[in-house]
Amino acid sequence: MTSTQSILELSEVHTYYGNIHALKGVSCSIPKGEIACLIGANGAGKSTTLMTIFGVQPASQGEIRFKGNPIHLLRPEKVAALGVSQSPEGRQIFPRMSTHENLEMGAFLRKDKAEVERDLEWVLSLFPVLKDRTRQLGGTLSGGEQQMLAIGRALMSRPELLLLDEPSLGLAPKLVEKIFETILEINKSGVTIFLVEQNAHMALTISGTGYVMETGRVILTDKASALLENEQVKKAYLGE
Ligand SMILES: Nc1ncnc2c1ncn2[C@@H]1O[C@H](COP(=O)(O)OP(=O)(O)OP(=O)(O)O)[C@@H](O)[C@H]1O
Ligand SMILES: [Mg+2]
Repeated sequence: MTSTQSILELSEVHTYYGNIHALKGVSCSIPKGEIACLIGANGAGKSTTLMTIFGVQPASQGEIRFKGNPIHLLRPEKVAALGVSQSPEGRQIFPRMSTHENLEMGAFLRKDKAEVERDLEWVLSLFPVLKDRTRQLGGTLSGGEQQMLAIGRALMSRPELLLLDEPSLGLAPKLVEKIFETILEINKSGVTIFLVEQNAHMALTISGTGYVMETGRVILTDKASALLENEQVKKAYLGE
């Protein structure tokens, strides 16, 4: 794969929390237009990887390039302005704002009001449940509804690259299926997706490329379909 086909490239990225060395030289590349997933055990560094890409956690070493441009020294607002959006782990919607206001917040950098209106319609068509909840406060939505709102809000910036951290966490099986179907639909609309998931089976099933992370390092990189057949992956992450 040549670099022109990658929308995002990490090379030898290191991230610390104080003296905790959370990322120990992470390298990966996300093909433009694809869904790529990052799987791994609790504490492996998956969320830290996404937060480092988005500029929430600074990389102390290494390089991150989005569409060829270095972004590892940029703050989240700047990364967002370039076309990256994040739906963080634990949802983190604004609990005292309504569903509608939460969605508007996702578009606050945008000036194209008519297009924002159209994207709002699109998000509500992806998650019809939210239509009946537009005036309801975010904090009073169910867990599943909050998850949809978090993804919807991330889409309201009309990103080229969407970072999704554990979108299926804590959801009932039916809703998990619905969320994964919607992720596919979002991808089909042209958004590249970097997906972090505990649900390795689902994640690998919908992804083109997969990365396996262990204690701050990417230990396996392959086509997701190959990782589904990989003995090590089956044993450690697919419960087979
Ligand atoms: N704010 C923080 N301060 C100190 N250490 C942290 C902080 N956030 C994460 N860590 C540590 O960094 C490492 C990587 O954490 P991270 O949250 O990236 O893992 P993860 O792969 O997302 O795990 P999970 O599957 O449980 O969400 C862990 O050892 C964690 O304890
Ligand atoms: Mg995490």
